[in-house]
Amino acid sequence: RTTTVGIIGAGPAGLLLSHLLHRQGIDSVVLELRDRAYVERRQRAGILEQDTVDVLRASGAGARMDRQGLEHHGIELRFDRRSHRIDFPSLTGGRSVMVYAQTEVVKDLVELRLKDGGTVLFEAEALSVDGADTDRPTIRYRHEGAEETLECAYVVACDGFHGIGRRSLPEDLLTVVERTYPFSWLGILADVPPSCDELIYAHHERGFALHSMRSPQVSRLYLQVDPDDSVDNWSDERIWDELDTRFAVDGDWTLRRGPITEKSITPMRSFVAEPLRHGRLFLAGDAAHIVPPTGAKGLNLAIADVTLLAQALTRHHTQGDEAAIDAYSETALRRIWRAEHFSYTMTTLLHADPAESGFDRELRLSHLRYLAGSEAASASLAENYVGFRTN
Ligand code: FAD
Ligand code: DHB
Repeated sequence: RTTTVGIIGAGPAGLLLSHLLHRQGIDSVVLELRDRAYVERRQRAGILEQDTVDVLRASGAGARMDRQGLEHHGIELRFDRRSHRIDFPSLTGGRSVMVYAQTEVVKDLVELRLKDGGTVLFEAEALSVDGADTDRPTIRYRHEGAEETLECAYVVACDGFHGIGRRSLPEDLLTVVERTYPFSWLGILADVPPSCDELIYAHHERGFALHSMRSPQVSRLYLQVDPDDSVDNWSDERIWDELDTRFAVDGDWTLRRGPITEKSITPMRSFVAEPLRHGRLFLAGDAAHIVPPTGAKGLNLAIADVTLLAQALTRHHTQGDEAAIDAYSETALRRIWRAEHFSYTMTTLLHADPAESGFDRELRLSHLRYLAGSEAASASLAENYVGFRTN
């Protein structure tokens, strides 16, 4: 099999890249380890930045998002039993975000790719990338029991943190930096209308809690838990009780309870591998970088990477312009590091660190109060949350 761009991974990054390249007349093959139902159901992110919304819309992939997505103009910070709203449009020159689940973005992109005659091979496991520093790199993969080779002009690894793409760069070229956190997130989906119109990011001495949503009927909530905790320790009742405690606020607000349909625990890390290119092999999305979820940057970064890369590959392939692919890594990393900093800041601001000193705790509370009381501080949070213009 041959193609122009061999893409490993049918997450949001790989699927959108394939779609954007198709719009430029460039063919690609997407290899995906899992089956279609699995990638369409995997519960992950839920917030799209303005730029992400714009990219999906401009590429013709935004129709259902525009019908079913919920535009949000702010978030609430909750601590000291009080609520503080951060208003996005007034602080960012009119920008906002969209609540639309990653599962839905993936479903829309798979459907569109198949409708446009694109090739997405499910249950196809990439095994290795060879010849990245030649003009004809190849991907070795296993599909329907047989080992095959995909010959490409370019290979893009969009295969997430545990994929093989990053490991295919020469070890002495790659620099990796990483940070782990002393907590994880227990995430639930519940069949109950959200108890709020906007997301609530709560800091409590017992830990962080987040009230998000998937639709007017489905709530998505998260609790900070210990990294070695297990969902088996969390009965539905214990989860709702703990959420009640952490969201408690003076005044009349109640958390609506409902049947919990999904429970899982996600570890947290910050991770950046660079450079994002070796010859004709490129990295994009979680294959190259991970942010802790607080602030919802992971999916948005993946989309930003491939938007940039689609332009660069198009320029190189159609005009022989080397400059764009040469600049990809450095340009993408500017946004990546901004998101790393913001996600780290939001995470340390809102979580309770079991090992922290009294000094660290007071700094956090002071930072929270500053955000609540200062328009300059709120504007900085809002600007980062709706998405930065760094490329
Ligand atoms: P992925 O979505 O990971 O896609 C990679 C794809 O590659 C997968 O489909 C995988 O099956 C496939 N693959 C892997 N190895 C191979 C191989 N060898 N051959 C072929 N295919 C392969 N972000 C937020 O903003 N908010 C959140 O609440 C949030 N929650 C998250 C919860 C979890 C459990 C995880 C893991 C991530 C979460 N994220 C969240 C981050 C966000 O979902 C990711 O940043 C986003 O999925 C990145 O997209 P991607 O396409 O780069 O990678
Ligand atoms: C969601 C996840 C986040 O990490 C976040 O900051 C906001 C919302 C979510 O899954 O809905």
